[in-house]
Amino acid sequence: MGEGAWYLLLEVDGLLASLVNFFEQRSLRFSFPELNNKHFQLYLFKIAKNNFSTNFFHKFNIDLPSNIAKSVPKRQREYFFGRMAARYALAALDIEQFRVETGKWREPIWPEGTIGSISHNERYAGATVLKATQMKGIGIDIESVLSEKSQLALQNTAIFQSEIRYLQDHGLMTIPGSVLSIIFSAKESFFKAAFPLVRRYFDFDAVSLVDFDNNRKVLLLEVRQDLCPTLQPGVVIPIHFYWLDGNTILTYCGLQGSGN
Ligand SMILES: CC(C)(COP(=O)(O)OP(=O)(O)OC[C@H]1O[C@@H](n2cnc3c(N)ncnc32)[C@H](O)[C@@H]1OP(=O)(O)O)[C@@H](O)C(=O)NCCC(=O)NCCS
Repeated sequence: MGEGAWYLLLEVDGLLASLVNFFEQRSLRFSFPELNNKHFQLYLFKIAKNNFSTNFFHKFNIDLPSNIAKSVPKRQREYFFGRMAARYALAALDIEQFRVETGKWREPIWPEGTIGSISHNERYAGATVLKATQMKGIGIDIESVLSEKSQLALQNTAIFQSEIRYLQDHGLMTIPGSVLSIIFSAKESFFKAAFPLVRRYFDFDAVSLVDFDNNRKVLLLEVRQDLCPTLQPGVVIPIHFYWLDGNTILTYCGLQGSGN
């Protein structure tokens, strides 16, 4: 369960102490009951849309890769705030001045001996980092509730008939946008958590929804493919979810590395 309040992060500029900007930042703690209550801290920024400029990269000493420099402002903002969140997550482990680069599979490259995850949507950017001795994989995903058009697009590409049938049979399709968003996001969290172990892309049918508990805010995904030695068909992975606001879901997945 998350906790913590938003607070303003003030950045001052040298001796003049002029206020260069402020960002709303928050830190939330989540735990995995099935993993002996191992927990992680999520560093979350509200994305400041107004007055955002690529100067922020220089001002806050965040690298601006050429592909991001050439991308649309939305992507630039999300990348910037995702890296800001990562900076706070790393600082909590006493790791300062580390630049989180991007690997050939678009994955963030964390310092040796750590694992982590980044996610962003148009409203929030979050990151977490843990010591690799604590868990083998961590994945977070922030997702806005899907529009009707996106819900349709997901069916049979990311969410399949057997899963829809499960939801219908259990009376869970009353608010399809919310439920499908959670499942889609859960699969992306799983992907991010599993990636350091699997080291390749795999599709959404690699796992399948087998349980959805809206009271406990947890769902179960069953692995359907041979992904890696610890993620074999039949292994069941709990994914937790938490509403950041009425329109934004956070899902998170922790992997122990021994078939959970
Ligand atoms: C990679 C992916 C999961 C990112 O999710 P998204 O909703 O598009 O975007 P998010 O904002 O939540 O996450 C983006 C961040 O994910 C991280 N990410 C990207 N690729 C990653 C990978 N291979 N492994 C781990 N993390 C990755 C990056 O940090 C990225 O942010 P950045 O580019 O600013 O550094 C998604 O784009 C994707 O490619 N999905 C297809 C694979 C998949 O999900 N299969 C389903 C398996 S069940």
